[in-house]
Amino acid sequence: MLSFRIIFVILILVGLIQADVEEGKQLFHEASCLECHNYEDFGSKTTKIKMFKALEDRVQACQLSESDELFDDEVHDIAKYLNKEFYKLKK
Ligand code: HEC
Repeated sequence: MLSFRIIFVILILVGLIQADVEEGKQLFHEASCLECHNYEDFGSKTTKIKMFKALEDRVQACQLSESDELFDDEVHDIAKYLNKEFYKLKK
């Protein structure tokens, strides 16, 4: 019985993570990111970004420069999306 509960909780957590990534993907496409970037910009071998925190900071810096006016959790979701899709960094 207990193991069913554990599996249930894990499924919910996975669902929540997935929701963040989906949200991030949508925000990324709504914001002005692709005015300056194309997909090859992200996670290339020459990138200086080696940590998730650095990725998040970079998204924050970019969105401020373009005054997309995203909330911190939206910046976080975009970083999660970019990480899952391109960077694959550990947290
Ligand atoms: C006005 C142009 C501009 C816009 C709009 C912009 N960026 Fe950037 N972005 C840059 C520039 C320039 C760099 C390179 C900075 C450097 O490497 O020093 C960069 C770098 C990055 C990087 C690091 C790339 C790498 O791996 O080296 C990420 C990630 C990024 N931007 C995400 C975003 C996101 C997400 C958005 C939308 C919210 C966005 N940017 C909007 C200009 C822009």
